Amino acid sequence: KLEKVWLIIGVITLIAFLTTVGIQAFASGHAPPSDLTKVDPEKVDETPPFNEPGLKKVGENEYELVMVLQSFGFTPNKVEIPHGSTVKFIVTSKDVVHGFEIAGTRVNMMVTPGHVNSMTYTFEEKGEYLILCNEYCGIGHHMMSAELEVK
Ligand code: CUA
Repeated sequence: KLEKVWLIIGVITLIAFLTTVGIQAFASGHAPPSDLTKVDPEKVDETPPFNEPGLKKVGENEYELVMVLQSFGFTPNKVEIPHGSTVKFIVTSKDVVHGFEIAGTRVNMMVTPGHVNSMTYTFEEKGEYLILCNEYCGIGHHMMSAELEVK
């Protein structure tokens, strides 16, 4: 009888262990960098996806554009995207509050250090778009911009 009790305890322990391992694997496997909402402003350069700013193709006509803002510029500051594509802009700031506005579109975000902000937009029209900082961020604010070419 005692053997049976030990066997049951053993099985329960094993199930508990496997469940814990399974949950951990699930949690880490389902937290892609693009779902990040916070980032240490001091560690932006080493935190994915900001360690590799730029355009990434994530699907048919779908892109992610990771950008880092810092007084008084955008990294990268010139991007080309094919027209008809949907782009998710993923942005953060390394220093102070900046703005991220794409002139002529509804894309307009506040970019706060410590936070990751994102917005998605589909570019149907070819042309040159200007990305502007629209939050006063210091002496170089009026020069803070980047180019986006939809071709
Ligand atoms: Cu950055 Cu204004």
